[in-house]
Amino acid sequence: MSRLTVLALVLWSLHVTANVEKVIFTAPDAQPKIQDASLDNLFLTTLSESYPSVRTYINASFPTNTSTKGTESWFLLDGLVPHRRYEVRICWAATQPTSFWLDTYMVNTAFSDASLISSLSTYSYLRHDQLTSKDVQTLKDRQHKHDPNQETTILFLQIFAAADYFSLNQTLMDVVPPVAIDLILDPYVFNVLPKSLIPTGLYLGLIGIFAWFASSWILRHLFSNNSSAIIPPSKKVD
Ligand SMILES: *[C@@H]1O[C@H](CO)[C@@H](O)[C@H](O)[C@H]1NC(C)=O
Ligand SMILES: *[C@@H]1O[C@H](CO)[C@@H](O)[C@H](O)[C@H]1NC(C)=O
Ligand SMILES: *[C@@H]1O[C@H](CO)[C@@H](O)[C@H](O)[C@H]1NC(C)=O
Repeated sequence: MSRLTVLALVLWSLHVTANVEKVIFTAPDAQPKIQDASLDNLFLTTLSESYPSVRTYINASFPTNTSTKGTESWFLLDGLVPHRRYEVRICWAATQPTSFWLDTYMVNTAFSDASLISSLSTYSYLRHDQLTSKDVQTLKDRQHKHDPNQETTILFLQIFAAADYFSLNQTLMDVVPPVAIDLILDPYVFNVLPKSLIPTGLYLGLIGIFAWFASSWILRHLFSNNSSAIIPPSKKVD
């Protein structure tokens, strides 16, 4: 393996993961804390650096003329550090082929856009009907505890899920079962690499560096032992 191949493999393996869709964004300026309870009353699942992941089900549907990306769900990203870069990943089982689209919106933007606010409140009403009091307690426990000395910011996360399969089973074609997902908020370290990739990155980086030095050592060794047998390419041209 040439040194470049090793390097390419290292970079490539940092990017390959199956059935993952993600959105990368930079957190906006700090926002003054929203005083009224309007955000709490939406009963959205919150992701923050203290609770960075959730395993849940979201509704999906086949694309139609009016909703080309299927069904929407909403989440809250709270306690984000302004100007820090983050990614949100969604992971799902290969057994239920689904297409996902992820978008983030500032609270002001969502609240001043008629179609976003109507989608948000529709989702919130439907969801509220399904929540048990235990679910509501779990949601409250997950909520980000705001520290008045720390500037933070909030974003809405909108997820579209469209079923992406064909089945001979008519039930599955009529009613799309909810999709089991893992949703993960991952802050970037120095705005370069997702935090969760740091151990993998270090490991692969070390292997890469080792391979780099090993290959040049092997080359040198070969040339010094068989210097008469191997003619370096530059000599050939003469
Ligand atoms: C959806 O669009 C297609 C092609 O544009 C059209 O043939 C079909 O009738 C439309 N369906 C509905 C339900 O509007
Ligand atoms: C998800 O789908 C189920 C079954 O169609 C429905 O009862 C429920 O209200 C939906 N939930 C949301 C949040 O859309
Ligand atoms: C069709 O799919 C549904 C839902 O997964 C399942 O309950 C049912 O048994 C399936 N029917 C057949 C004929 O396989």
